[in-house]
Amino acid sequence: MPEVAVAPSSVASALARATSTLATTSDTPRLDVELLLAFVLGTERAQLILDSRRELDPSEVTQFDALVARRAAYEPVAYIVGRKAFRRITLAVDPRVLIPRPETELLVEVGLSLPARASVVDVGTGSGAVALALKDERPDLSVWATDVSSDALAVARENGVRLRLGVEFVQADLLSGVDRSFDAVLANLPYVAAGDELPPDVARYEPAGALFAGDDGLDVIRRLIRAAGDTPLVALEVGFDQAQAVAGLLAEARTNSIEILRDLAGHERVVVGRR
Ligand SMILES: C[S@@+](CC[C@H](N)C(=O)[O-])C[C@H]1O[C@@H](n2cnc3c(N)ncnc32)[C@H](O)[C@@H]1O
Repeated sequence: MPEVAVAPSSVASALARATSTLATTSDTPRLDVELLLAFVLGTERAQLILDSRRELDPSEVTQFDALVARRAAYEPVAYIVGRKAFRRITLAVDPRVLIPRPETELLVEVGLSLPARASVVDVGTGSGAVALALKDERPDLSVWATDVSSDALAVARENGVRLRLGVEFVQADLLSGVDRSFDAVLANLPYVAAGDELPPDVARYEPAGALFAGDDGLDVIRRLIRAAGDTPLVALEVGFDQAQAVAGLLAEARTNSIEILRDLAGHERVVVGRR
């Protein structure tokens, strides 16, 4: 086979070319290509600006083009590079777990308001994002985390070990078999209604068990509100149009006060019930 010559390219021109390749498949093409090239070069995104005139060697160009082609087929950047930043920590992620979203940081903020040495459980922990970020920022808390998926829990446990954060991970359907009570329950559980259309990045790559929850998307949340019983604080992440319905469910469960927190896009995103 004759070798195909790879055209030389500077950092700046490789980024410009790849950004236009991703213009139709990604909402954030420039950010995506910067993350991918930084990954190939083993550097930080910010360094790319300082190195913009640097010539890439042919193997770097080949590797970068292959990653851009994966992104053009809708594979999320976080799965391609195998990591995602969340608050102060970086989590390893792969298709066994949902990629942690910025709006989920609100759940961590609710956890930060807990009194010293309180106990808290992150139900449906996925990569371990909420539990591990909270333990990182509040080492005094006793933090537990559950997930029904053994695959997800393996990822979460590995993150816990790598980050050296002492979170107790348990495989469980919500809180069943977790034989103790908590001062707070935090949860970002599946809340997509069956049949809802999702962007191709999500639908094709992220685990269905992390997304769908019955006809109105509230099946799992309804069960958790029952399972949480008398827990003094329950905070639930919800879909952009579900907060009022979930506030109603918490009110039926004899919650004394209900607060709704908005995400940066202005959507009602987290419903907090306190007894
Ligand atoms: C939307 S993902 C969120 C993951 C993580 N909390 C985050 O915010 O990145 C929902 C997670 O809940 C888990 N899950 C779904 N049903 C569950 C159940 N009945 N009990 C425990 N975990 C469940 C899924 O396996 C998945 O990891």
